[in-house]
Amino acid sequence: MTTVLILNGPNLGRLGSREPEIYGSATLADIEAACKDLGAQLGLQVDLRQTDDEAELIGWVHEAADRRLPVIINPAAFTHYSYALRDALAMRTAPLVEVHLSNPAARESFRHASVVSAVADGTIAGFGPGSYELALRAVARLIEAAT
Ligand code: DQA
Repeated sequence: MTTVLILNGPNLGRLGSREPEIYGSATLADIEAACKDLGAQLGLQVDLRQTDDEAELIGWVHEAADRRLPVIINPAAFTHYSYALRDALAMRTAPLVEVHLSNPAARESFRHASVVSAVADGTIAGFGPGSYELALRAVARLIEAAT
């Protein structure tokens, strides 16, 4: 079974209580459970991680490249300014999908730029926890298309 890393950046461990009017009431544990269920249906093993630390996140991206694992990433605020994360993601060796719970394009102007999008296969944003499920389906299709 292919393992998919679902990587989450800063403050996403606070989902459930973090600005629920924007991010909803689901916790990251709820999202993980839904992704594991869907992953089992799609034949994908889900390994979901979260960190507030840029270096740790980049380390996981290196691990994914070395292990040739597909990645779904919500880089959170790093989306908008972390060239280091972008450069790490550019070394990818498997499908990469960027996700956001909210729709950054409809929010403050500093959220309109993503330094990550250009190195991803695609971006899914604005569907709450559903963004992760759509991203898993996208990864399954990308894997199928490549085999
Ligand atoms: C986010 C959007 C980012 O702008 C923000 O910094 C986040 C969450 C989202 O999932 O909607 O932390 O990535």
